[in-house]
Amino acid sequence: MTARLIDGKAAAAALRQRIAAQVARVSDLGVVPGLAVVLVGEDPASQVYVRSKERLAREAGMVSIAHRLPPTTPEADLLDLIRRLNADPAIHGILVQLPVPKPLDERTIIGAIDPAKDVDGLHPVNVGNLSIGGEGLLPCTPSGCMMLLRDTLGADLSGLRALVIGRSNLMGKPMAQLLVRAHCTVTVAHSRTRDLADECRRADILVPAVGQPRMVRGDWIKPGATVIDVGMNRLAPEPGQEKGRLVGDVAFEEAVEVAGAITPVPGGVGPMTIACLLDNTLTAACRAEG
Ligand code: GUN
Repeated sequence: MTARLIDGKAAAAALRQRIAAQVARVSDLGVVPGLAVVLVGEDPASQVYVRSKERLAREAGMVSIAHRLPPTTPEADLLDLIRRLNADPAIHGILVQLPVPKPLDERTIIGAIDPAKDVDGLHPVNVGNLSIGGEGLLPCTPSGCMMLLRDTLGADLSGLRALVIGRSNLMGKPMAQLLVRAHCTVTVAHSRTRDLADECRRADILVPAVGQPRMVRGDWIKPGATVIDVGMNRLAPEPGQEKGRLVGDVAFEEAVEVAGAITPVPGGVGPMTIACLLDNTLTAACRAEG
C-alpha cells in the first residue's frame, strides 16, 4: 500500500488566497490588518521563518513590520517594544519568534503581549480559552495540523484514536487539546513514555512533534493511519552538498508503505503554520475593528 500524500503546500496556498480576498474586503472598509514580528538575535532558522512571515503577510495585503533586535537586547527594552505594539492601533497581531536568546524569559515576554493581539495563541489567556472552548486565538501549527486532518479524513474525527508525540507548549499540548475538542481519544507521548512503538501502533492519527529525525519507523504505524509529521530536522550535509536534507520525525520512505495518508517534509505542515498565522492576524483585526 502506498499512502496518499497530504499536500500542505497546496492547502496553505489555497488558505492564503482566501485570506487575501478577505483582507482586500476589509481593507476597502478601511481596516488593513497589521502584523508585527519580533526577532531577537541571529538564529539562522528563525531569520528564514521571520522573512517568510513578513513576505507572505505582505503578499496577503497586510501591513507587515519586522523588528530585528540584537541578541543582547535587555528584557526591559523588549517589553517596552511589546507595550508600544500593544498600544499601536495599526498593529493587530504581535509575534515574538521563539526561541528567544538567554537570559530572556519566554513566559514573561509572551505574558506581556495583549492576548487579543497574540497571534501565536501562546498567552495564558489564549491557552486557557483553548482549554475551556472559549473564543481565543489558536496556536498556528496545531491549527494547521487540524486543517490537514479534516481535509484528509473529513470534518468528523470523533472516536478516532490520536497519538501526539511531544508535549511542548507550542505544539504538543495545544494539539492534544484540539484533538480532544474534535472528540478524538487522545494520548500524549513524550520522552518518558514506555514502549512508544506500541502506543503508535494503536493510533488512527499520529502526530509526531519531537525534532528527532526519522524516529517513527514504518513498522510502528497502524496500517491505514493518517500521519501528520511536524518534525523539521536538517541532516548533516552529504559530501558535495552545501546543506543537509530536511527530514521529519517519521522515516518517510518506510511510513509511506503503511500509512493511509502522510504529510511530506518539507511541504506538509510547515507551510500551514504561516497561513494560520495570517488567518489569526485577520481574525484579530476583524475583532479589534468590530
Ligand atoms: N518558533 C518555531 N515555531 C514558532 C511559532 O509557531 N511561533 C513562534 N513565535 N516561534 C516559533
